[in-house]
Amino acid sequence: WGFYGHKTVALLASRYLLPETSTFVQTFLYRGQTIMDAAVWADRYAHIPLGRYSKTWHYIDAKDDPPRSCGVMYSRDCGGSGCIVSALVNMTARIQDEELPWAQRAQALRFILHFLGDIHQPLHTEHASLGGNLIKVHFHGTEINLHSAWDSRIIESFLGKPTERGIISLTNTLEDRINNGIYNPSAFSTWKNCLNTSAEETCPLVWANGANRWVCEYVLKDGDIKGKEIAGEYADGALPIIEESIAMAGFRLAGWLNMLVTGRDGLD
Ligand code: ADE
Ligand code: ZN
Ligand code: ZN
Repeated sequence: WGFYGHKTVALLASRYLLPETSTFVQTFLYRGQTIMDAAVWADRYAHIPLGRYSKTWHYIDAKDDPPRSCGVMYSRDCGGSGCIVSALVNMTARIQDEELPWAQRAQALRFILHFLGDIHQPLHTEHASLGGNLIKVHFHGTEINLHSAWDSRIIESFLGKPTERGIISLTNTLEDRINNGIYNPSAFSTWKNCLNTSAEETCPLVWANGANRWVCEYVLKDGDIKGKEIAGEYADGALPIIEESIAMAGFRLAGWLNMLVTGRDGLD
C-alpha cells in the first residue's frame, strides 16, 4: 500500500488497542513520532542501501496460476531471503525479546505495523508479473502499473491525496463499518479467529491466503487486463475490496499487538 493504506491501518488499529498495548507501543515510538509515521517507515528503509535486505519482506510470491488457481504455500513461496510471512514471525519474536536493545525492538514494531498492511494487499501475495508491477494499464488515460493501482492510485482517485484529514476520515468510516456490523458476521469472525488458535506463521498464512484469493476472484479475474483502461467498472469494483482489506488489516493489527502484549486479542 501507499500512505493511505498504511496510515489508515495504523490509526484504525490504535482504536482497538488495549490500554496496556497502547502504552507498550508508545514505548517504542520516537518522541513526536505517530503510529502512522512508524507504519510507513519500512518502505523508505527498503529503498536505501542499508535496508535493501528487507525488500523481499514486503510480499510473498505465490507461484500459483491466476485466475485458474490461487493459494499461498509457505515452503514453495517464501523464498530464501525471507518473505512477509517469515518477517512477521521474526519481528514478532524480536519485539518481545527483552535482551535486544530498544532500537532493535522499536524497528521490529515499525516492521510489524507495516507488514500487517502489506499482507492484506492482494498483489503483495502474488508472483505473477512481479505482483502486477509488470502489468501496464491505463487509468483515466495515464499509463500506470497494476500494482501501483492497487497500492494507491485507485483509492486516491476516490478519496484524494492521503492528507491527515483524509486518513482520519477513512479511519472513522471503517471503524463505523466494523462497529455497526456491516460486514457479514460469518466472514467477520474470520477477521479474528486465527489469533487465538496458534502462534507463529499460522495467522500470517491465513491472511496472505485471504488476500491472494482476491487475485483470482477480482484482481486478475479476466486474465488479460494488460493495456486496458481500469477507470470505471474495474476501479469501482476494486474500491470496496481495498477498503475492506485495509479495515481487516487495521483490526487484525490491533489483535496481533494485543495478543503479543497481553495474551488476549481484546477485540470484543
Ligand atoms: N516484487 C516481486 N514480487 C512482488 C510483489 N508481490 N509485490 C511487490 N514487489 C514484488
Ligand atoms: Zn505495493
Ligand atoms: Zn511495503
